[in-house]
Amino acid sequence: MADGWTRASWAVLAAAVLCLAGLAPANGQSAAPKQPKAANAVAAKAQGKATAKTAASGEKTLLAEDVFKDIRVLRGMPLDEFMDTMGLFAASLSMTCTDCHISESGGDWARYVDETPRMATARKMVLMVNKINAENFGGSRSVTCYTCHRFDANTPKTVPSLMLQYSVPPPDDPNEVTAIAESQGLPTADQVFDKYFKAIGGEQKLAGLKSVVVKGTYDGFDTGHEPRPEEVYAQAPAQRTTIVHLRGEADKVWTYDGHEGWIASSDKPVPLMVLTGGELEGAKLDAMLSFPLQIKQAYPTWRVGDASIDDHDVLMLQGTAAGHTSLKLYFDKQSGLLVRQVRYSNTKIGTVPVQVDYSDYRDVAGIKLPFQWINTWTDGQSTTLVTDIQTNVSIDPAKLSKPQPAKMPESAELR
Ligand code: HEC
Ligand code: HEC
Repeated sequence: MADGWTRASWAVLAAAVLCLAGLAPANGQSAAPKQPKAANAVAAKAQGKATAKTAASGEKTLLAEDVFKDIRVLRGMPLDEFMDTMGLFAASLSMTCTDCHISESGGDWARYVDETPRMATARKMVLMVNKINAENFGGSRSVTCYTCHRFDANTPKTVPSLMLQYSVPPPDDPNEVTAIAESQGLPTADQVFDKYFKAIGGEQKLAGLKSVVVKGTYDGFDTGHEPRPEEVYAQAPAQRTTIVHLRGEADKVWTYDGHEGWIASSDKPVPLMVLTGGELEGAKLDAMLSFPLQIKQAYPTWRVGDASIDDHDVLMLQGTAAGHTSLKLYFDKQSGLLVRQVRYSNTKIGTVPVQVDYSDYRDVAGIKLPFQWINTWTDGQSTTLVTDIQTNVSIDPAKLSKPQPAKMPESAELR
């Protein structure tokens, strides 16, 4: 178990698309651009290309091939989905970005293009996976990189393990638990929601919750594990902005304005990355969960399952809707509190999970809110420790709308 975790953390660490200019990564292993030099130049080049999809606002959503130089097999993906796919590769193969890409790419987005033997193999693998799925599984993503590689960088296994066959099975991963169609002996989804709403203050109190302003600290691979000041602004029904103040002048901003979402951060390939698909739905879910009462309405169908997280019995509600990202919510069986959400975003190559763990619930004006949460995704992990929450205060609308593009390091030099 401990060993498994160590390997997992290492891969996650190493896959992180993180180190900002001037931030020394605590572990020294982060593989992504230290100074994403090319970003502005590449992004500028991309402007005006005709292939970009058009977002609701009429703005162009950049595709990977609009921003990067040599996209051959993963064409047609918005930038955020492409980066998720790189995360899927890393997480499936237990590799860092620079296990496939040349080591210089760790300091420079423009160097990711340089072909390596592993990239050549990975390109073939993408075509193989697409073919397997097209010919055998009606084009669904039944087989992904993870199906064979199972977090193993080398050759997928061919010989069954007698040790595994005869050992006590390891505990089930609660994220892999699926809901039971007819919940045998379990409470109904409505009962689970009711208990949760009661546990955090009751429906009446929750209906009156209109805004939340959180202050605290954020630390993650992207801050070199240094806690940095963080603010979260949320406005009902579903607007949410998170701002992390990095060293120097830089901020890292995630915004969902009720319709559209963005990440403005200098460690991304472009200064303002538009969220699409599952990433956008995920941002919306986070915004909705700031005002828990409405989460029930987020999905037409909820099914119940049970599992345990860190030796605590939990009830899992799985929300599904045709053609949408699915969501799993885990509630402590005793307290009724929400302890985890796991959501999924689909890329053309496979599905990537995002997990948020909530803890340290405290009373704020009659409503219990988590004072700690941990985000875990294929590219990194971060912890938020809350110091102060205010509810029902007015929020400057500018804070909840499209953020300013991030200042990219050395951008002046490139223009
Ligand atoms: C298993 C190997 C593998 C891993 C691990 C991997 N990549 Fe890639 N990467 C590829 C392949 C293959 C391509 C080319 C895709 C294509 O041709 O459509 C690519 C393309 C790219 C490009 C576009 C380069 C260009 O200009 O055309 C970027 C940027 C990139 N990867 C970033 C990353 C990051 C960041 C990570 C770590 C999170 C990562 N990659 C992990 C295999 C990998
Ligand atoms: C059907 C099983 C299967 C699937 C699915 C699969 N692979 Fe592989 N992959 C293999 C096998 C088997 C090898 C080892 C080939 C060998 O030994 O030469 C391999 C090797 C590789 C290697 C070379 C590893 C090294 O040590 O240099 C890379 C990179 C790779 N795969 C990437 C991917 C990516 C990316 C995906 C998803 C797009 C993927 N694979 C999906 C079976 C699979």
